[in-house]
Amino acid sequence: MSSEFTFKLLATDGKARRGEITMPRGTIRTPAFMPVGTGGTVKAMYMDQVRGVGADIILGNTYHLMLRPGAERVAKLGGLHDFARWPHPILTDSGGFQVMSLSKLRKISEKGVTFRSHIDGAPYEMSPERSIEIQGLLDSDIQMQLDECTALPSTPKEIQRAMEMSLRWAERCKTAFGDQPGKAMFGIVQGGDIPDMRVRSAQALTGLELKGYAVGGLAVGEPQEVMLDMLDITCPELPQEKPRYLMGVGTPDDIIKSVARGIDMFDCVMPTRAGRHGLAYTRRGKVNLRNARHADDPRPLDEESDCPAARDYSRAYLHHLVRSGEALGAMLLTWNNLSYYQHLMSEIRASIEAGRFADRTTEISEGWARGDI
Ligand code: GUN
Repeated sequence: MSSEFTFKLLATDGKARRGEITMPRGTIRTPAFMPVGTGGTVKAMYMDQVRGVGADIILGNTYHLMLRPGAERVAKLGGLHDFARWPHPILTDSGGFQVMSLSKLRKISEKGVTFRSHIDGAPYEMSPERSIEIQGLLDSDIQMQLDECTALPSTPKEIQRAMEMSLRWAERCKTAFGDQPGKAMFGIVQGGDIPDMRVRSAQALTGLELKGYAVGGLAVGEPQEVMLDMLDITCPELPQEKPRYLMGVGTPDDIIKSVARGIDMFDCVMPTRAGRHGLAYTRRGKVNLRNARHADDPRPLDEESDCPAARDYSRAYLHHLVRSGEALGAMLLTWNNLSYYQHLMSEIRASIEAGRFADRTTEISEGWARGDI
């Protein structure tokens, strides 16, 4: 296995890219979907199942892990991979985004963020340097810069201020991260819904020669069209030979349309959260297992799936589990949904290799539209 972090483009089809990130803990086939394992667990899944559905990498959250169980404790116990029993690559988000959405009494300044824990109200400070230090204590393989994501809509002045501060924080994170050949620190493009800000952010980050680049500040309430416009503007400004990660996205349709614009990596709570709320993703669209129409239905979610959750359990049983609030309902639907997402990524990768990305993804969306379930 490679002792260095490298990214190789294996094939392209239009702007869609098929690539491979190699690093000491494993290879990540791109386009990749990273299941969200916020607090050291992909909720309702064993790590063996997460691996089994085809995930090469999972995401962890600095914010949650620093509050509980604490980064220094995880480090003493041998790092997040051992602690959570996931020996493959882990990407950690830097914390700023979660502070803004979850914590209380938060304040942001050039120095960093101060906030109170959403768990017990205890006060914390996090600078760009401390975020990288925590991600190092967790032994994260791909670490994200601390950034400020502006909610949309925001004023141009506010968007510019946050984007420029995020650039200064990227430089500080780069210095704090230093030279770690087997790991990577990614910068995050900000700039809200203003094309010129996005271009400036992407160009300045590219100048820092980081190992990868994320596009942040999207899927924060804006229409899909705005998100796609921002990708159309941003991706051409990023270097071809580095991976591109769209943070917090998205639906299967968002993923296909973003791959078409040159994105290589995704993460989203959607498949896991939806699974815990009785919603299943399938080739024929979404199925709400809470609905009474499933109560007597002996058919599985998808008899052709290779995931036992999709193939071996009746909709009637899944409906019963979900309606009774049984843990197994959340477990089976999360398994089904992550399997669906990973299968979608594998189809996307194969279609790029075969030069059939546009046709194959049209067939996939037509499958959802048929909605015969
Ligand atoms: N997750 C989703 N969007 C963002 C973002 O803009 N920044 C960070 N750090 N994480 C995110």
